[in-house]
Amino acid sequence: MPDTNNPNWPELDKNFVWHPYSAMESDLPVFPVTSADGIRLRLKNGRELIDGMSSWWCAIHGYNVPELNQAVTQQLDSMAHVMFGGLTHRPAVELAAKLVEITPEPLQNVFFSDSGSVAVEVAMKMAIQYWHSISQPRKQKFLTIRSGYHGDTFGAMSVCDPVTGMHTLFADTLIKQYFVESPTCKFNETCTADDVQAMAGALKEHHQDIAAVILEPIVQGAGGMKFYSADYLKQVRDLCNQYHVLLVLDEIATGFGRTGKLFACEHADISPDIFCVGKALTGGYLTLAATLTTNKISDAISRGEPGLFMHGPTFMANPLACSVALASIRLLLDSPWQERISTIEQALIKGLEPCRTLETVADVRVLGAIGVVEMNNAIDMKQIMHAFVDAGVWLRPFGNLIYLMPPYIINESDLNTLTKAMCRVIKKIGPT
Ligand SMILES: Cc1ncc(COP(=O)(O)O)c(C=O)c1O
Repeated sequence: MPDTNNPNWPELDKNFVWHPYSAMESDLPVFPVTSADGIRLRLKNGRELIDGMSSWWCAIHGYNVPELNQAVTQQLDSMAHVMFGGLTHRPAVELAAKLVEITPEPLQNVFFSDSGSVAVEVAMKMAIQYWHSISQPRKQKFLTIRSGYHGDTFGAMSVCDPVTGMHTLFADTLIKQYFVESPTCKFNETCTADDVQAMAGALKEHHQDIAAVILEPIVQGAGGMKFYSADYLKQVRDLCNQYHVLLVLDEIATGFGRTGKLFACEHADISPDIFCVGKALTGGYLTLAATLTTNKISDAISRGEPGLFMHGPTFMANPLACSVALASIRLLLDSPWQERISTIEQALIKGLEPCRTLETVADVRVLGAIGVVEMNNAIDMKQIMHAFVDAGVWLRPFGNLIYLMPPYIINESDLNTLTKAMCRVIKKIGPT
């Protein structure tokens, strides 16, 4: 058995631990971190890094947040976990009520699960079960746009971009869904009939087989970090209504302020039939996600056959996670979050501008607290990760995308350090 008190524990990592999207035998660096506070991650060698990732969109308040620490420890004093079948508890009930209050009407019912991918599975099952319940069992397929990403489980993988969505390998195993090109109309642009033509055409042709359209609203994350027009989203909502197809919005990455609105669908002033949140829900403390839906859908499922929604994870509505989620939402809503996001947005626009003229850079784009530098070619991960850590910042690019989405509490000086380091490193690494 490995000695877990071994001061050389990072060495054991290589032998025993598999990291996300990585190989056990790899020469890519994995940096041992021993603590995190505010917006700084402290490595085992004492080096401090300014966090530009919010731990993959989650840690919106930064790390070691007194209010969130307190929510967890207080909850721990009463109960860490109980099963949710046949039992309920205040943290889950209060969190569900809060989510209903802050998400678009008429979302009214909350189903908790343990991760974003599972929340998407739940959403897909809800959509299929809804149509089954109202005697339209043929509607089992999903329609989505290219460059999307919705998670790593099988249902979620089936609606990820077949190429950039990282799951090409499983193509033959996955359920075949319908895909159309992602919109070319960018954020803040209006959409022409041409932009929605592909979506309209697919709905016209296949609506009898389609349970729902599923989209990441406004920002496509891990499938390409693209920002598209709110007008497109609005028109898709109308098309879904016209063709009797549900609309599932996956706000797992965009939710809780990241794009400048509390939820990205507010840019388009629309409401989905099914809605997924996760990631920043707990401020990055514990794993929790939720799928929300309307009374229309839950009523149909209750009245249909078999009269129950067929899903129920073991750790559903974990009390520690629900308590910290509630504290995180309160902390966010009590903070000047809109001002903060707008300040970050301005600083990112200014700070990343110098990258635009580099010949290795294809595009620079910013929306809310998200800044993206798209390179012409894929990045040498080993080289760039060392360069970022040497520069005292934590960024984790993928493919040809280098992006940052810092905790909302970041100050101007740290943000300046982040963007300067990012531009400097991009300039230094040169063409690949
Ligand atoms: C939009 C979106 N949906 C779903 C997921 C999956 O969430 P999780 O990694 O918690 O399963 C992600 C994760 O990056 C995401 O960005």
